Amino acid sequence: MSELLKKEVLKKTEAFVREKLEGDSGHDWWHIYRVRNTALTLAKREKADLFIVELAALLHDIADHKFHEGDETLGAKVAEKWLSSLFLPEEIILHVCEIIRDVSFKGAKVETPTKTVEGKVVQDADRLDAIGAIGIARAFSYGGFKSRELYNPDIPPIQHTSFEAYKNDNGHTINHFYEKLFLLKDRMNTDTAKRMAEERHFFMKEYVRRFLEEWKENE
Ligand code: ADP
Ligand code: NI
Repeated sequence: MSELLKKEVLKKTEAFVREKLEGDSGHDWWHIYRVRNTALTLAKREKADLFIVELAALLHDIADHKFHEGDETLGAKVAEKWLSSLFLPEEIILHVCEIIRDVSFKGAKVETPTKTVEGKVVQDADRLDAIGAIGIARAFSYGGFKSRELYNPDIPPIQHTSFEAYKNDNGHTINHFYEKLFLLKDRMNTDTAKRMAEERHFFMKEYVRRFLEEWKENE
């Protein structure tokens, strides 16, 4: 494919995603924007295919299961239909859809392997955006969207052993830190992402520590 054609495909895909995602809590366009940019930074360091990475990053949350009655296969299907409408080579479509299927966190005890360096980079970029100051904001934004409690000391966190159990959990948002966000640092694929995750991780830890400290002051 020529560079010109790739540019055109990316431009069209960006417009498609932007229109589709505008308004979703925690999955606004700016999440995609950040993931795309971080993924491209990681991709350059890891010598990954930039076109595949950018396409997959743009499309990775196109039909998130959390907003589609738990159907986690829909995202790849929507992406496949979109990419086919642009007459892209089959191998590119398959690769991008595989990345979208593999990207998500599925529970503390559930492995989420990626098959290619492009997949690793997109997964890392998505996970970096779930931690740190932005990650905290996204978690409470999502909890609000789901009308969840900020915290409930009577409900301890669970280390989910299946995607089914993780998906159907309705716990408070502080639990989400123990059930997902604090685990992401050690699940980064690339060294660059591991380094970037460190500081965000410790900031989150400190935040939750202070949250619980203030909670105790009210008891
Ligand atoms: P990602 O985009 O990193 O794959 P998800 O699609 O799982 O993340 O979720 C989108 C955002 O909502 C993330 O920031 C995530 O941490 C947050 N989120 C997901 N599940 C919960 C939950 N149960 N409580 C609070 N926040 C959540
Ligand atoms: Ni995402």
